Amino acid sequence: MKIYLETFGCQMNRLDSELLAGVLRAAGHEMVADARTADVLLHNTCSVRQHAEDKVHSRLGVDLRRKADSKGRRKIIIGVLGCMAQRCGAELLARYKNLPTGQAGLDLVAGPSQLANVPALIAQAATGEPVCAMDRPGSPADGFDAIDLARDVACMPQVAQAFVRISRGCNKACAYCVVPAVRGPEVSRRPERIAEEVRRLVGAGRSQITLLGQTVNSYRWTAGPRTCRFNDLLAAVSAVPGLRRLRFVTSHPLDFGDDVLQAMRDLPNVCPYVHLPAQSGSDAVLKRMNRRYSRAQYDELIDRCRAIVPNVVLAGDFIVGFPGETEDDHAASAELIRRSGYKNCFVFKYSPRPGTFAAEKLADDVPLSIKRRRNNELLAVQEEVGLAHHAAYVGRMVEVLVEGPSPRATKQPHPPNPPATQLLGRTTGDHIVVFDGPSDLAGQYVNVRITGASSLTLTGERAAS
Ligand code: 5AD
Ligand code: SF4
Repeated sequence: MKIYLETFGCQMNRLDSELLAGVLRAAGHEMVADARTADVLLHNTCSVRQHAEDKVHSRLGVDLRRKADSKGRRKIIIGVLGCMAQRCGAELLARYKNLPTGQAGLDLVAGPSQLANVPALIAQAATGEPVCAMDRPGSPADGFDAIDLARDVACMPQVAQAFVRISRGCNKACAYCVVPAVRGPEVSRRPERIAEEVRRLVGAGRSQITLLGQTVNSYRWTAGPRTCRFNDLLAAVSAVPGLRRLRFVTSHPLDFGDDVLQAMRDLPNVCPYVHLPAQSGSDAVLKRMNRRYSRAQYDELIDRCRAIVPNVVLAGDFIVGFPGETEDDHAASAELIRRSGYKNCFVFKYSPRPGTFAAEKLADDVPLSIKRRRNNELLAVQEEVGLAHHAAYVGRMVEVLVEGPSPRATKQPHPPNPPATQLLGRTTGDHIVVFDGPSDLAGQYVNVRITGASSLTLTGERAAS
């Protein structure tokens, strides 16, 4: 069958979709880029904010109209996968039960750990009977990564970069967050399997690997007397011959010991970039969020990062308008952005998620208009901070991994085989660098002299090699 797969949410979901596409191809299906030509419409979804779920509902509206318009002449199967499927479960099937034609509306609902079963679930849904396959939380550690190990390196989207999952789920209990409920408790993969997957990927030409985990740095594998912690894993993976860059996201401030910082300093291919969500700069809010660190501890961690890892680049996440957030709390977040000197920062308006502690126990008492204003204010502070951060690179030479044409270049009409186009690459610190060069540089490492900076990007000229 022809399958259209759309992905919402984080990098973990992007990886899941990539692995799923491999599973579907192996089962004889064809992936298509145009939903209008597909027999099966799948959405790999996110539940982290209501907005992410609203987008899926509106997509389902379009799908269901298309299915109703086909009046049964063509069999169309519609499926919801991933976090929202796990959060809403059979409720989704009930909500989108029947079309006016009498056909089932939504056919398939499957939680994030069910990806290997999706071909079987599609076959079942094709009989006309809707299916709902949910994850059981805390499923055994050794089975969940079969899909990762079986990945089809031949059909991966990027030429030089690949994501590798090192753990699933999350053991933190942040008051606002739906992830522990939908992705279950944290389960780490066996280190040998991670190293094996990285070796295969490097063997297939990927020279940059990004290790993924909801709280990547709390990775821990124990077997008898042996424990492999995150810094041990970094050492093992970084030793894979041919691996030029090793990255990891996202880190939790609580588990960030000097051992990881030392590994970043001492292992030459581990990139000096840390995404370290603070969520708030105020102790009162951090406490209500159950983040389990204080503002002083976060400040101290940022100082340690800078002291141990030369040229470390930091990025952050903040939530504005968490229940009870005052103007003083908000000012403390703005001040933390200035103090930390982030390269970039993601700012989110608090969105109550059903079933979380905050949604059940704390009143969502900051009006939307104030959330919006605070969101804009933090972004404005980050814009200044980001500009100062990037401006410090002007005049320097940096090595970038070329990802391909910049989005602007792809929009501009240009003749076939242009001599030079605008390319986008990334530094080891994850800076975006835009420069002119031939498009066949994609996947290669080149030196660029930085000539300009904005709050989010660097611009430069390719140095003669
Ligand atoms: N509302 C708003 N933002 C949230 N995040 C997680 N849960 C919520 C929520 N309920 C943000 C956090 C996290 C990022 C992935 O999403 O900042 O780091
Ligand atoms: Fe969304 Fe979080 Fe699930 Fe990723 S893990 S898809 S961000 S809810």
